[in-house]
Amino acid sequence: MRANFEIMSIAEQIAELQKQVEVLKAASAEELEALRLKYMSKKGAIPQLFEQFKAVPKEEKATLGASINHLRQQAEARFNELREQLGSMANQAYADKQDLTRTPDPIELGTRHPLSLVREEIIDIFSRIGFTVADGPEVEDDKHVFSLLNFAPEHPARDMQDTFFVEKEEGVQKPSDILLRTHTSSVQTRVMTSQQPPIRVLCPGRVYRNEAISARAHCFFHQVEGLYIDKNVSFADLREALLYFAKEMFGAETKIRLRPSYFPFTEPSAEMDISCDICGGKGCAFCKGTGWVEILGCGMVDPNVLEACGIDSKVYTGYAFGMGVERIANLKYRVKDLRLFSENDVRFLRQFESC
Ligand code: DAH
Repeated sequence: MRANFEIMSIAEQIAELQKQVEVLKAASAEELEALRLKYMSKKGAIPQLFEQFKAVPKEEKATLGASINHLRQQAEARFNELREQLGSMANQAYADKQDLTRTPDPIELGTRHPLSLVREEIIDIFSRIGFTVADGPEVEDDKHVFSLLNFAPEHPARDMQDTFFVEKEEGVQKPSDILLRTHTSSVQTRVMTSQQPPIRVLCPGRVYRNEAISARAHCFFHQVEGLYIDKNVSFADLREALLYFAKEMFGAETKIRLRPSYFPFTEPSAEMDISCDICGGKGCAFCKGTGWVEILGCGMVDPNVLEACGIDSKVYTGYAFGMGVERIANLKYRVKDLRLFSENDVRFLRQFESC
């Protein structure tokens, strides 16, 4: 190979460069760059031909010009080829390093929602004393949510301010008898109207109330309802079942207290408090200094409700209770703002990873 282009004619130089370009090889990106500089950069061999071309006599310009252009295209094509080869070599080197017998990257597992955890725990505790799970619709009728449960026609819970009514026709605001259930007690009436005692069910589900959303209230939340109907079911049975639940859920030291209350569907009715497990019953900000926190409503099923649902109240008695899942979750996990339960912020949800 003749190295000195100066004494070669342009045509000879083109032919020589063509030969060189055809066999160019590069084993690395650095080598390729060195070749690019040598042949293609401004001072490189091919652009330099264009410089010499300026001095070529007019009559030779057409043929020589075409040859130089052809050479440049050939060189560009060769460089592209080399670039591609290097790329696939790098891919191959990467692939060679991989262990193809390895299992794929583990998929990051999600976490259970705290409300699901608490709901499952409640169900688990009561299933150990014979309760099974019953389900009912969230879009309900007045009959199952209110009438069968002994709510008087003018009871304030039926009020538009508490209950979301489902409009039958668009724009018709008049209260319809289709609504979003305000409590899971509606599942009680579904069960009682469709089966005879013994009945021992738990009804978990979402309920809706027309409340302004804040840290302490939401327009939807979750409840678990319990219902037990059989011969000779007494208030003492209710108390024992609830005491068992409280100890299982909050620890063996937990005490319960039943305060008289009122619900249209139970007689007598009570609200149950548990001893505050933050201060151990001594009194703190959480229990407002009382040593007790309320967790559920309960009572003996009102004979009117049994009769309305087709169960003979002279033969059967029963108890019922209903609790808010968010409330229990707050007590267990100390979540201060109810809205966190429905915002699906993964930073909040991740905290339950190990639960
Ligand atoms: N349904 C009631 C509420 O939403 C809770 C409740 C109270 C349910 C007493 C019951 C019960 O079964 O016996 O506030």
